Amino acid sequence: MASSAAGVVAIVGSGLIGQSWGMLFASGGFKVKLYDIEQQQVTKALENIRKEMKLLEQAGSLKGSLSAEEQLSLIRGCASVEEAVEGAMHIQECVPENLELKRKIFAQLDRAVDDTIVLSSSTSCLLPSQLFAGLAHVKQCIVAHPVNPPYYVPLVELVPHPETSPATVDRTHALMQKIGQSPIRVLKEIDGFALNRLQYAIISEAWRLVQEGIVSPSDLDLVMSDGLGMRYAFIGPLETMHLNAEGMLSYCDRYREGMKRVLKSFGPVPEFSGPTVEKINQAMCVKIPDDPDRLAARRKWRDECLMSLARLKRQMQSQ
Ligand code: NAI
Repeated sequence: MASSAAGVVAIVGSGLIGQSWGMLFASGGFKVKLYDIEQQQVTKALENIRKEMKLLEQAGSLKGSLSAEEQLSLIRGCASVEEAVEGAMHIQECVPENLELKRKIFAQLDRAVDDTIVLSSSTSCLLPSQLFAGLAHVKQCIVAHPVNPPYYVPLVELVPHPETSPATVDRTHALMQKIGQSPIRVLKEIDGFALNRLQYAIISEAWRLVQEGIVSPSDLDLVMSDGLGMRYAFIGPLETMHLNAEGMLSYCDRYREGMKRVLKSFGPVPEFSGPTVEKINQAMCVKIPDDPDRLAARRKWRDECLMSLARLKRQMQSQ
């Protein structure tokens, strides 16, 4: 029932990511208090969430055991940070990716909270040591980096500040699991965390292969969507190695030299500019013209695919 809320979560910044977090926490039965510097944005966020939840419910893809109306009744807007934070056990910051702005928000939150609340940032690439430096409640601070769109892609990277307490990491890990997300612990902060380091390694080699005229941009994307991505939706690169031979030791025995030879042939970091960006842009625009409507339609299709994939993954896990 909506009244038996699991706890209160405050969301600071109710744009794309703030709204997704709001929906996820409500799906886990948490009361959600949304705050944004733009009051109209809170109203817009509440409308978007209502629309989205109703669509998900109709499609049978609403997360959690509560109905859309029950989940919606758990979410409300707030007029100030202080009001949002009052009674919360976890604060999820979702303001734009700007170090100075985020530091200002965390300084404000630091003054408003007690010793029990978790202060969490959604940052994609700012390091916890920069974000949380000098805060009185640094032990309670953590990065919880979601992947877009978080409602369909469950991974959350948890990245502590060197002074974050293990209890904060454990609590946030448990909270993420409770709302159906898939948290991982990045044990030491590093630029790009884990996901973007892997993503940039792939982008980098993709770029070089197109730049050198080895494959076309559209074929390059097929390498992932109809090749590697097929299994990576279910098993990671390390398990792939384990399964592609008689275990990991056998894989390394067989493929070590070949992997090292190929890896040594990789070129330098691309510039991501000049004629190659023109070439790739042209190819992408043939497939999906870059006007806002066509891009939005393709994103909608992508999200529908991800929703179906999430359903399939659930089915496969329960077998
Ligand atoms: P957004 O621009 O959609 O939303 C940011 C919201 O913060 C806006 O509604 C804005 O009015 C509000 N805001 C600005 N200053 C504020 C303040 N002082 N107090 C309260 N609210 C304030 O941005 P988005 O995409 O939701 O990103 C938020 C965070 O999530 C960023 O750190 C971003 O790097 C991270 N992130 C974004 C992903 C994405 O694909 N969009 C994926 C993963 C993380």
